[in-house]
Amino acid sequence: MPALRSVRILGTGMYVPPDVYTNKDLEKMMDTSDEWIVQRSGIRERRFAKPGLGVSDLAAEATQHALTAAGLKVSDIDAIVFATLSPDYYFPGSGVFLQNLLGCGQIPAFDLRNQCSGFLYGLNVAKAFISSGQYDRILVVGAECHSRAINLTTAGRDVAVLFGDGAGVVILGPNDDPKRGLLSLHLHSDGAHRDALKMEFPSMRKWPAITQEMLNDTKHYPTMDGRLVFKNAVTRMPEVVHEALAYNQLKPDDVDFYVFHQANLRINEAVLKHLAQPASKTYNNIDRYGNCSAASIPMVLDECARSGRIKPGDLVCMASFGAGFTWGSALLRW
Ligand code: ACO
Repeated sequence: MPALRSVRILGTGMYVPPDVYTNKDLEKMMDTSDEWIVQRSGIRERRFAKPGLGVSDLAAEATQHALTAAGLKVSDIDAIVFATLSPDYYFPGSGVFLQNLLGCGQIPAFDLRNQCSGFLYGLNVAKAFISSGQYDRILVVGAECHSRAINLTTAGRDVAVLFGDGAGVVILGPNDDPKRGLLSLHLHSDGAHRDALKMEFPSMRKWPAITQEMLNDTKHYPTMDGRLVFKNAVTRMPEVVHEALAYNQLKPDDVDFYVFHQANLRINEAVLKHLAQPASKTYNNIDRYGNCSAASIPMVLDECARSGRIKPGDLVCMASFGAGFTWGSALLRW
């Protein structure tokens, strides 16, 4: 068997729609308050895409930035891995929407359904293809249009205030620099908690998949056991970071920069405390964008790469936790 190739991130990109919705804007739609939202989640505003746009449109914008950053052309991309929980259509997946929008050749387009861990799952899929030599450069996408499926009334306020729209992408490729590259990925799931955070309808377990009665009962919106999600996130994220570090015979102090999924500022503060690491070793943008699920990690990567917050040679550790439950970590030398 030929040796596996080392893999690295060649470029990053992100895009958020221009329309800003502050907590004060949400106060006009439901019984909530800026104080409640900031105190519980750290979120101050989020972006909502205009009707008519979908995740593939946001991802296409982000991809152009990543191509420029990597010095590549659309024709250099050999495959797309698209992670989202808010796709353009129920089917086909958003990967083919993006393939068409970008005007790539007839390259394969994979779609992943791993919610807030979707980007790390996507990174693992892409890494495996590149390491084995099957493809050279893969566009890994995390993108969400959450605004389409949140109940922006008081009945849905526990979930609705947390989410926003956005896209983040990376282009992954073979690595010729022995001092850089993706070192490891560790992924997990526990379907025993599949109902703790879900959007059940339309459901292919039902016939018909959605009825007027379900719509009247607002069954087509997500539901969440927030406390259970919180409790599991603050346990699983440090656990999977330690798993990555142990695998690479490293310690939390060896990491230069931590990139966490942006679900809740309080979760990330608790994870950092658990790892006994200073706030200066991480970066959060949840205050400006809310929780963008699969897009959150690549959006943070892009802002940090562009601002120089993450520098070539830095040891970067990413970690996520989300619906499913699914969680994971990735360690790379930037
Ligand atoms: N505005 C005002 N009041 C609200 C709102 C709101 N938007 N939402 C709920 N409340 C009220 C509740 O009705 C409740 O009122 P009551 O005491 O009269 O019954 C009160 O606030 C407290 O509600 P709780 O749900 O107990 O609030 P909690 O302190 O648990 O905070 C939160 C809720 C922020 C969701 C928290 O549980 C949490 O952070 N969970 C983690 C889940 C998460 O971050 N999910 C994001 C997506 S998952 C992921 O990406 C990992």
